[in-house]
Amino acid sequence: MTLRDRRRVRNHLASVHAMALANLAEMASGLAVLVGLPPGVQGIVTGFSISYLKKARGLLTAECRVSGLDVTTEQEYEAGVAITDVQGDVVAHATARWRCDPSRLDESARYPLTRQLGVEVPLICGAMYPCSNAELVAAVSAAGGTGVVQPLSMIYVYGQDLRDGLRLIRRITDKPIGMNVLIERSSKFYLERMHRYVDIALEEGVRFFVTSLGNPRWVVDRVAPAAGIVYHDVTERKWAEKGLAGGVHGLIAVNNRAGGHAGPRSAEALYEELAGLGVPVVCAGGIGDEAGFARALRMATPARSSAPDSSRRTSAARTTTTSRRSSVRARRTSFSPSASRACRCP
Ligand SMILES: Cc1cc2nc3c(=O)[nH]c(=O)nc-3n(C[C@H](O)[C@H](O)[C@H](O)COP(=O)(O)O)c2cc1C
Repeated sequence: MTLRDRRRVRNHLASVHAMALANLAEMASGLAVLVGLPPGVQGIVTGFSISYLKKARGLLTAECRVSGLDVTTEQEYEAGVAITDVQGDVVAHATARWRCDPSRLDESARYPLTRQLGVEVPLICGAMYPCSNAELVAAVSAAGGTGVVQPLSMIYVYGQDLRDGLRLIRRITDKPIGMNVLIERSSKFYLERMHRYVDIALEEGVRFFVTSLGNPRWVVDRVAPAAGIVYHDVTERKWAEKGLAGGVHGLIAVNNRAGGHAGPRSAEALYEELAGLGVPVVCAGGIGDEAGFARALRMATPARSSAPDSSRRTSAARTTTTSRRSSVRARRTSFSPSASRACRCP
């Protein structure tokens, strides 16, 4: 924000008045904090301090940068503001303390997964060859979760052209969907075919990709210009670390109760093993009903009422999301719970 040096804002020393600088700093902090907060979180200033460092003359610019406003519990946030003059000298430095209240946080903004995907319910219906068809994917997404297209299933089992199948889903629901990308490189033909599938999915508006088997780097790079999100299936920490080195935005922790390629660890052991990696972790395996879904979600956090999770901690390890753990409430969905994955966000 800028403030012009006019007679009305000057003091008896012909420089900009201390209170005008304080107003400017407070307003800059408010703009930055309120824009940075998730939708529905309210903020109010509870404290303010300012140091005057140089006579303020000419056009002044107040700058405030905020990060880590992933607020799910009531908390205070200190926003620093620097006011500089046209020479670039800092004429004042202020700190505004904001109390952030998430009690009216939108459900869809409560969890990193739902925020990243723009969905209401922290639940993914995993891809299944040969079960995933367009109608199933559409039904899951229409219900508020995220259905995931299995392209090989769509093409080779249901005989649909991939683009036509994606458009069929779009006719049923305009909610976000995902696509499964098998990234094994056993042949050049398979790899090039997957490249084409990803390009078609991007052209048809898909922004969420679930990778498995191999290094997800090419998928991350290919979808990045479209702001695509990539979650990677993992069964052990070493694969998670490889996935993160490949730039993925989240992990799907495939436990020993999962259908398809089950991992060697129990859901609890795998969750513990993946703690501290700083990205959302989705629990996959053995979730067959609403109670199981709720149980999987509770595993991440001590039991609580429907109030926002108090155990959420800030992680330094991550860029796109800074929260480590969150509880997620169970929601009834209208599709078969088979192959469902409950999001537990670290
Ligand atoms: C019949 C079946 C087929 C599957 N096919 C795939 C697949 O093609 N790609 C994939 O990434 N995961 C596949 N999976 C794994 C699921 O996406 C999901 O991770 C897993 O089923 C979760 O465990 P659950 O079945 O206990 O819910 C499959 C699972 C099943 C049961």
